[in-house]
Amino acid sequence: MISLLFLFFIVSDCVTTAFAMRMATWNLRFDSKPDNITVQQSIDALPDPLVEFPFQGVHGEQPWSTRRLRVAQTLLSEDIDIAGFQEALVRQVRDLAELLGDDWSWVGVGRDDGKEAGEFSPIFFKKSKFTLVSNDSFWLSDTPFEPSRFPGAGSIRICTATRFTVKEPSSSGPQHFAYLNAHLDDASDQQRQLGTSLILTRARFEAFVNGGPVLVTGDFNSPSTGSDSGGYKVITGAQPPLPINATFAKKFDAGGVGADFRMIDFRGQAPRQSVSKNYATFTGFTEPNDTSDWTRIDFAFGGSTRGWNATGYKVLSALQDDGTLSSDHRPVFADVSLE
Ligand SMILES: *[C@@H]1O[C@H](CO)[C@@H](O)[C@H](O)[C@H]1NC(C)=O
Ligand SMILES: *[C@@H]1O[C@H](CO)[C@@H](O)[C@H](O)[C@H]1NC(C)=O
Ligand SMILES: *[C@@H]1O[C@H](CO)[C@@H](O)[C@H](O)[C@H]1NC(C)=O
Ligand SMILES: *[C@@H]1O[C@H](CO)[C@@H](O)[C@H](O)[C@H]1NC(C)=O
Ligand SMILES: *[C@@H]1O[C@H](CO)[C@@H](O)[C@H](O)[C@H]1NC(C)=O
Repeated sequence: MISLLFLFFIVSDCVTTAFAMRMATWNLRFDSKPDNITVQQSIDALPDPLVEFPFQGVHGEQPWSTRRLRVAQTLLSEDIDIAGFQEALVRQVRDLAELLGDDWSWVGVGRDDGKEAGEFSPIFFKKSKFTLVSNDSFWLSDTPFEPSRFPGAGSIRICTATRFTVKEPSSSGPQHFAYLNAHLDDASDQQRQLGTSLILTRARFEAFVNGGPVLVTGDFNSPSTGSDSGGYKVITGAQPPLPINATFAKKFDAGGVGADFRMIDFRGQAPRQSVSKNYATFTGFTEPNDTSDWTRIDFAFGGSTRGWNATGYKVLSALQDDGTLSSDHRPVFADVSLE
């Protein structure tokens, strides 16, 4: 009996326990109709939940002050652990920090000045689950270390890069991973190819130099097929990367290894019965029956050096019964186990 117990402890000591987490990526649509309504005022103005309201009574884009409680309710009820957002202006970042609550922290900078101006691609995480080890931002342009726009791109574009360790008392060692979150350009496929070439270089560096699994999320403004798919094709290795800034390439040189390193789409990796049948991640603020703009352009990936399994994947509708869309994009959730 005693020897059996010993055996059990020895065996359980050797087993590396996987860490299960739910991640999300969501383009929140920037606060294009700003007002001065506080989060508390929005909460105070919520109607009686027992009373019916006109179904599909509102149409089109609603202000962030209307959308934010729905965004936070979705994220909290889905019990996510870590998330990358896109298009969040500083007010939206602060509102989410307030609504998600004390267990949450975030990193990221405004893309226009590297401080608070312009849209953030922030990474939010649960402090009870993760310790932030490092974070930085780079621009998806020819001068990645300064706020800058790729020639021909519609906007300045940024990527937030993080490293975390997992706070898991039962794990056998300090599980750590890298997580990058970005928003690629809507106007230029060249930018999307260049931007994903930078992200892939950084992801390879994280995988081979710092080690551990690498996760990437983002709004790629790029479907997986067709003439706009350069971003997806570069990051998944279906198309060669473009030449990138030499300083960046040197700083994030993986030492000549991992030439075939690529990112793998979690949607194709999770067991099929655990993948939601919702496919489109962008819908626009259109009528529910108007699917003309629907497309899958928001993704979650794991690095080809692995250390992860995808156990579930889903896209939720952003539409509610009153006609409000939480965003013109839908939230994407990936259940991932790391080791
Ligand atoms: C918000 O408040 C500021 C300061 O009181 C004011 O200047 C601004 O016009 C207000 N904005 C809106 C959209 O009401
Ligand atoms: C994250 O980045 C911010 C801004 O550069 C920096 O102030 C902070 O120290 C970083 N945190 C960690 C843990 O590296
Ligand atoms: C690479 O980026 C750095 C910093 O963003 C910039 O100073 C440098 O000029 C760039 N190199 C080239 C060849 O454009
Ligand atoms: C959506 O439904 C409305 C109301 O029935 C109709 O007028 C419109 O043509 C429909 N749109 C599409 C794209 O089917
Ligand atoms: C992934 O699944 C395989 C096969 O079930 C298993 O051997 C491996 O340990 C898993 N890895 C993680 C990180 O969960």
